[in-house]
Amino acid sequence: MVAHFVMSIDQGTTSTRCILFDRGGRLVSVAQREHKQYFPKPGWVEHDAAEIWRNLEHLAPEALAKVGVSAAQVAAVGIANQRETTVVWDRHTGHPLGRAIVWQDTRTDAMVTEYARRPDAAIVQERSGLPLATYFSAPRIRWMLDHTPGLRERAERGEVLFGTMESWLIWNLTGGVDGGVHVTDVTNASRTMLMNIKTLDWDPELLEFFGVPAAMLPQIRSSSEVYGTADRALPGVRIAAALGDQQAALFGQTCFARGEAKCTYGTGSFLLLNTGDTPVHSTHGLLTTVGYRIGTEPAVYALEGSIAVTGSLVQWFRDSLGLISTAPEIETLARSVEDNGGCYIVPAFSGLYAPHWRSEARGIIVGLTSYITKGHLARAVLEATGWQTREVVDAMNADSGLALTTLKVDGGMTSDNLLMQFIADVLAAPVVRPMVAETVSLGAAYAAGLAVGYWPDLDGLRRNWHRAAQWTPSMDPARRESEYANWHRAVERTFDWLQ
Ligand code: G3P
Repeated sequence: MVAHFVMSIDQGTTSTRCILFDRGGRLVSVAQREHKQYFPKPGWVEHDAAEIWRNLEHLAPEALAKVGVSAAQVAAVGIANQRETTVVWDRHTGHPLGRAIVWQDTRTDAMVTEYARRPDAAIVQERSGLPLATYFSAPRIRWMLDHTPGLRERAERGEVLFGTMESWLIWNLTGGVDGGVHVTDVTNASRTMLMNIKTLDWDPELLEFFGVPAAMLPQIRSSSEVYGTADRALPGVRIAAALGDQQAALFGQTCFARGEAKCTYGTGSFLLLNTGDTPVHSTHGLLTTVGYRIGTEPAVYALEGSIAVTGSLVQWFRDSLGLISTAPEIETLARSVEDNGGCYIVPAFSGLYAPHWRSEARGIIVGLTSYITKGHLARAVLEATGWQTREVVDAMNADSGLALTTLKVDGGMTSDNLLMQFIADVLAAPVVRPMVAETVSLGAAYAAGLAVGYWPDLDGLRRNWHRAAQWTPSMDPARRESEYANWHRAVERTFDWLQ
């Protein structure tokens, strides 16, 4: 049978989705399921990896059934996933050993501070390209090894396995206890803090630094190649791509040339700039990361500005404050007032990520007077995403020596026109959104399709990119700069709160 489609799996922070794409990169079918978020203590965020696997096992056939497509018509499947989230499981039973520790979790805060004091701490950034922070996987693996009786000994004997979500899912899809393949790809490995960003291999000194046994680690492969077949959910379908979700969005936005950048606005927001085939060391608080690697071609690197809290601030506004009942209502509420009324919200819920990397920072609302209404707060919520983007773009411009000319955007928050206009205003640069806003999924599908020859080359993929919307800057420059100065003053106040 002729294969007409490629499937992507987007295993994200709040849900898992399976999407079927056709050769034109058009979305044919979607199946989605949310999973439970566990917050057992302040700052702790956990997922049940077994629940996520069960969801996928149902979603993949469901996406096919919705449009009457059989697995034989699917050329390949690609995976994009929430990055850094850490799972450890038993090789023999297939059961996760405790809950997965999610990328937003800050329980390793004190451990990371201790690491930073070590005389050899500089090797971490030198080798991995990442600043010492709670965000990455290595301190979480160490935390699990220290807090689970007998785990270290079993890990040393190779009886337990570590992986981020793509490893866990590939292992299960390819057979689990009956012969699962234990692999990761370079983009996901580049977020563990254990991979050498130049050699693209596990770095023995980093393993030693964090005390992580090599026997529990997956094999590092490229982002676009066949790892095995997804027999437990899609019989006979080749798994031909894996990328961290933000790298997948870079690929889906077809940012294949050096200097091209995108920002994905989801739970958090992540701006990635393609820097070509050499890793660029950041001196302004950005991460050096792998963008993608196709087969045996050289890896393509990226500079990344990671913002922990953007869409999740809107969720908090809805669920914890109850000031709106659906996320899109925030735009209407924000439009009910002219401006922020002097109010600023800095959502340092997981500390502050790029470009500050201050895990001790805690969120604040400043400028409250009795004049402030929920409309002003709604504006301040949206503006927080705009200013955080501006901080990251400033760092990116400083590191690369180039000024960003246009920002390609995608993700759920891009349906908020007020926010997109505000971002264009504070960046003083146009913001553009493509027709297919599901760029994370599309990127994983593209990488899988390339690996099996469903799509011939990158140029063909580029031709699928079509602009759907553009926002042009219109803010008065003097106002922009004075508002930005206010934002900075607010940010400063988040740093010493816990002291
Ligand atoms: O690094 C974390 C990022 O990969 C999470 O993305 O879209 O699942 O919130 P998302």
